Amino acid sequence: MSEIQSGPRRALITGGGSGFGLAIAEAMLADGAQVAIGDIDRDRLRNAERDLGSDDLLAIELDVTSPQSAAAAVAACQARFGGLDTLVNSAGVIAFNPLTEISEAEWDWVLDVDLKGTFLCCQAAAPLLCASGRGRIVNIGSDASKVGFPLLAHYCAAKFGVIGLTKVLAGELAPRQVTVNCVCPVGVSGTGMGREILDLKTAATGMQPQEILAATAADIPLQRNPTVQDIVNAVLFFISDEAAFLTGSALDVDGGMLSTIPVPGMDV
Ligand SMILES: NC(=O)c1ccc[n+]([C@@H]2O[C@H](COP(=O)([O-])OP(=O)(O)OC[C@H]3O[C@@H](n4cnc5c(N)ncnc54)[C@H](O)[C@@H]3O)[C@@H](O)[C@H]2O)c1
Repeated sequence: MSEIQSGPRRALITGGGSGFGLAIAEAMLADGAQVAIGDIDRDRLRNAERDLGSDDLLAIELDVTSPQSAAAAVAACQARFGGLDTLVNSAGVIAFNPLTEISEAEWDWVLDVDLKGTFLCCQAAAPLLCASGRGRIVNIGSDASKVGFPLLAHYCAAKFGVIGLTKVLAGELAPRQVTVNCVCPVGVSGTGMGREILDLKTAATGMQPQEILAATAADIPLQRNPTVQDIVNAVLFFISDEAAFLTGSALDVDGGMLSTIPVPGMDV
């Protein structure tokens, strides 16, 4: 039997040096958690450490594509926090290319970080999450986990895979009281990857960023673009005690985007 722990959460957040990972770390620290942020980018880690400025924060150089690095990050959490009950897999990369121009190296890079990296971190953290008796894994998927987007064969394949992995691990780890869920955001411009996507659209269309953001907001049923906080809220919910009976789900944080298709002549 696991020893059920109570009190503040002890979390490892991959990709925690930037974007969603950093915002989730900030919110969890504000909630009294002990938080490790793992990231491959040293500068981002250093800046995050300075900006968050908390004694409850541990910054770890982590390459999620390496089993040794994932194991070392989990060991560092064990040494500093005495255990781990929460893993958020937010590390991710994206690239845009048509099928015929995706090199094998680019395919491997995207699949390695976005899918294999999530698997390796789940595998490394699982023993401590199980031992906590109240484990939580939240994987960051995407709208590209559910819909095929042009130029994103590798990214979509990886992100669809993240939902598959989420569902398998939900079943495997449920008897040990570990829940495994996935949060699937539509494009959010206020992160590193969000800026990359916006830059690409700006270059491709010649439109100004504000024009592009207005156009994407108009396409979303709730008539606005998501904020980073919208995604943080969904992650915090899955981590909360209130979500203890939810596992294996892949939640769209998309303002209704994937639930409805506009039909010409049928506007409200
Ligand atoms: N921003 C969006 O529009 C959006 C939409 C849907 C899903 N997502 C997903 O959200 C997650 C977070 O992205 P973000 O938007 O915050 O982007 P971001 O670029 O701000 O953050 C991603 C972080 O992952 C880190 N990283 C990259 N490779 C790594 C590796 N091998 N090991 C460890 N860390 C690594 C980067 O250094 C970076 O700090 C990603 O999984 C992304 O696919 C983003």
